[in-house]
Amino acid sequence: MRAILTVGFLGVVCSLSAAITITVPRAPPSTAVNVDPAALSVSLEFFAFPDYTQLTATTNCLDYIGSLRGAPPAIRIGGTTQDRAIYDPSLQSAVNYTVADPSDAPASLTYGPSFFTLASKLKGDVTVGLNRQLNNLTNSLAAAEHANAIMENLYAMELGNEPDLYSQSSPIVPAGSTWSPSVDGQSQRAWFTSMAPSVGDLFQGAVYLSYPEWSTRGLIPILSSAISYVKTFSGHSYPQSACGGASTDLPSLMNHSEIVTYTSQYGSDAAAAHGAGKKYFLGETNSATCGGGGISPTFGAALWVMDYVLQGLLNNVDRLYFHQGTIGNCQYCFWGRSAVGTPFYGAAFVSDFLGDNSARLAMLDNGTGLTAVYAAYADTGAPTRLLVYNSDYYNGTGSRSSAAVFIPGIMNASGSVHVKRLTAPSATARVDQGANVTIGGVQFDAACQLTGTQNTEKISIEGGSISVSVKASEALIVYL
Ligand SMILES: *[C@@H]1O[C@H](CO)[C@@H](O)[C@H](O)[C@H]1NC(C)=O
Ligand SMILES: *[C@@H]1O[C@H](CO)[C@@H](O)[C@H](O)[C@H]1NC(C)=O
Ligand SMILES: *[C@@H]1O[C@H](CO)[C@@H](O)[C@H](O)[C@H]1NC(C)=O
Ligand SMILES: *[C@@H]1O[C@H](CO)[C@@H](O)[C@H](O)[C@H]1NC(C)=O
Ligand SMILES: *[C@@H]1O[C@H](CO)[C@@H](O)[C@H](O)[C@H]1NC(C)=O
Ligand SMILES: *[C@@H]1O[C@H](CO)[C@@H](O)[C@H](O)[C@H]1NC(C)=O
Ligand SMILES: *[C@@H]1O[C@H](CO)[C@@H](O)[C@H](O)[C@H]1NC(C)=O
Repeated sequence: MRAILTVGFLGVVCSLSAAITITVPRAPPSTAVNVDPAALSVSLEFFAFPDYTQLTATTNCLDYIGSLRGAPPAIRIGGTTQDRAIYDPSLQSAVNYTVADPSDAPASLTYGPSFFTLASKLKGDVTVGLNRQLNNLTNSLAAAEHANAIMENLYAMELGNEPDLYSQSSPIVPAGSTWSPSVDGQSQRAWFTSMAPSVGDLFQGAVYLSYPEWSTRGLIPILSSAISYVKTFSGHSYPQSACGGASTDLPSLMNHSEIVTYTSQYGSDAAAAHGAGKKYFLGETNSATCGGGGISPTFGAALWVMDYVLQGLLNNVDRLYFHQGTIGNCQYCFWGRSAVGTPFYGAAFVSDFLGDNSARLAMLDNGTGLTAVYAAYADTGAPTRLLVYNSDYYNGTGSRSSAAVFIPGIMNASGSVHVKRLTAPSATARVDQGANVTIGGVQFDAACQLTGTQNTEKISIEGGSISVSVKASEALIVYL
């Protein structure tokens, strides 16, 4: 059955509203994709990882996602500072570094065996990012061997972070050669080949940011038979840049059709990885590079997280690892020392929608409008939840439009269905500035626990059909 979608405009008293009809196929359509239990995962910046383990919110936020999904999120420990880190087997602390200001990331650091003891206590699959840029294979191998020996949860290891950004004077660049995808590919191949006999075939390859010049599909032929040492491939992705004061744009970030267009670029890398029998991840991602811009802590960014995860999955990305950077200096972070950030509301909401029984996910709109409608299908094949997102931008002044979505023939039963709403006063609202961002009417406290019981709204079933209304910059889940 095909999804039918029609749009009309009804002049209503307070604002212009879009009316849409969406037919929900009774079984997953051919465009539906499988959903990894850890589809929404987390990346923790290498040097900050030990400090993250000391925050109550880290445990509680990860547990909350895990409770909704029925499986813990995966964790990748890595980032720029993995390529500045030297393993010191005699270091007593997990990490050692000096920074001039607590908001800085260290220019160099050492880490010791207890780094991996902390990592071994995480609940989900753990991917550890090691240094390649400094060209000390002996050192990274010593770390890899210790990690492999003590971490039962060790899933994969990266050798180098975003090697596409290494400078020509970086120690890894062979004398006389110009750093390029081909030279890096040979380096990845050589390192995997050297290290696999001691630690196994568990490498996460690629780890590039500059798609498509640097890509998984470009790397695979260079790896040739060394692909047998690779477990997964990863690309990094930030739709916007906040580096060096670059300007960011919230209406564009949260715009459904722009999210559809942006994520479609990952389909070919995912296909190449899957063709080689490997998973494909956005192994580090968030709204804007360089820690996030002014748009990153807003409600619009929370809505972006939600829609972006679903579009990533629909483009066959298996997992998206949302990056968490320097604690206390991280606009896009899901949580920090004293508060849960607004983007976490999007992470929680999309996890609620995917639930612990969604075998298949489908998009039911055509991807070019402002309103997105998704269906999650249970393993029985029946639709179990719908997510409706009105990505129209509401800045908090003027009238707030809404989309009316009519869903015919969804139920034979009479009575009602429940819906849960993710809302805030506007797309620019920020929890850290006191805004009332809520899921089912309640918020998370600083320790990442809900401050009350979530409420749902009852929508009556009329003639087997339902109709829901979603305001601009708002989303809801329909529980079927
Ligand atoms: C920690 O690093 C500082 C430099 O940042 C260094 O002076 C000190 O000796 C290191 N401590 C240990 C135990 O390695
Ligand atoms: C590389 O690492 C090894 C072992 O950790 C160490 O002994 C050696 O000094 C390092 N080499 C360089 C050039 O830093
Ligand atoms: C896609 O849906 C939008 C409404 O959401 C509609 O305006 C547009 O005509 C549709 N496009 C196609 C190609 O069906
Ligand atoms: C969303 O993006 C589409 C495609 O770029 C554009 O046509 C539309 O005007 C945007 N809508 C909003 C509300 O930003
Ligand atoms: C918010 O949007 C209204 C119209 O929708 C516009 O007049 C106003 O300038 C905008 N405010 C800001 C701060 O962008
Ligand atoms: C309602 O019942 C009819 C007849 O049994 C069945 O064909 C149809 O699929 C059902 N629709 C829903 C939404 O369950
Ligand atoms: C916050 O929003 C919820 C609905 O989402 C509402 O029930 C509650 O009263 C609001 N609280 C405040 C302080 O505005």
